[in-house]
Amino acid sequence: MTTSTLETTRTTVTADVPTDVTSETTAPRKRMLTGDRPTGQLHLGHYVGSIENRVRLQHEYEAFFIIADLHMLTTKNTRADIDQVSANARAMVLDQLSAGIDPAKATFYLQSAIPEVTELNTLFQNLVTVPRLERVPSLKDMARSAGKDEMPYGLLGYPVLQAADILCVKGNVVPVGKDNHSHVEVTREIARRFNSLYGDVFPVPELVESEITTLVGTDGQAKMSKSIGNTILLADDAAAVRKKVGGMYTDPNRVRADIPGTVEGNPVFVYHHAFNDDAAEVADLEERYRAGRVGDVEVKEKLAAAINRFLEPMRERRAEYESQPGLVDEIIVEGTERTRDEVRAVTAEVKKAMGITGTYNQLRRKAEQARKRRG
Ligand code: TRP
Repeated sequence: MTTSTLETTRTTVTADVPTDVTSETTAPRKRMLTGDRPTGQLHLGHYVGSIENRVRLQHEYEAFFIIADLHMLTTKNTRADIDQVSANARAMVLDQLSAGIDPAKATFYLQSAIPEVTELNTLFQNLVTVPRLERVPSLKDMARSAGKDEMPYGLLGYPVLQAADILCVKGNVVPVGKDNHSHVEVTREIARRFNSLYGDVFPVPELVESEITTLVGTDGQAKMSKSIGNTILLADDAAAVRKKVGGMYTDPNRVRADIPGTVEGNPVFVYHHAFNDDAAEVADLEERYRAGRVGDVEVKEKLAAAINRFLEPMRERRAEYESQPGLVDEIIVEGTERTRDEVRAVTAEVKKAMGITGTYNQLRRKAEQARKRRG
């Protein structure tokens, strides 16, 4: 594996978090696996739903981050969609590195470059029923928002492929946002079913939930989502943040600053709570908002400033990575190679446990004997 270039560059870009001692011990660390479909840049909803946990848990677990391009195909499979994957993958990994994922600790990989994952998917398909998958709520939502009136076969199998992703490295913990909770439940069922049929091969992975499971959009809609266009991106600059926050949905009944407003569920205050590090400022704004003693402009200006304080360290890290062209690509390729080695070993173990390896070995042995007899 080519590590030389990375080794030198890695020392120049480090997450501003303490190194922990567990990484130095010899016992194999437990593993975290999570990731995203490469459909675009990451936003604050991704951050609170999963990235925050990734950054925190990378010190405790050996971290794998998937770029799930095969999962993307379940709803977006035109040639144009696929042609955007490499750029989106690069952007997404850069977002995560900027957010504080340390490339010296974490492994990023491209799902489609590891064909053994699809082999596991095929084997796992027999460990879950169609009615069980039909009860997974997120799949219907995905089909609907992709404009499909009938469920594609691949989309119904989305959680099975996700189980293959998680179990292909024997993942122990899976930090994901709310949409994915039911998928992790399917993974747990598949792991248990496999173990009971073929012997103890897999850990039953734990879901790691975040404090805020879904972040409201800037427009007040339930969910921040790229397809709705109500996001604040991790890559947004200060001016973009000010503009987006300035246009945010707030209490619609409050047409003047002296009208008492509602704080609960108000997106502007939801964001203040999630991202403003100045708790006293938030408490003061809330109090004055409820009493009709503060204008929306002030609340929003302070929110934009808070989000910019929050994003500023990410911008600095991003600039460092961006000054090293090709580094992100190297990180992905190196990670994919490392992951493939792992997955090959796990797949071999799976096929052995199932007896599939034995089938062909028996045939081969007999064939070899026959060849010898014939001389
Ligand atoms: N389903 C995730 C998403 O919504 C992407 C994904 C694919 C994933 N495989 C995974 C997440 C394994 C966690 C673990 O984009």
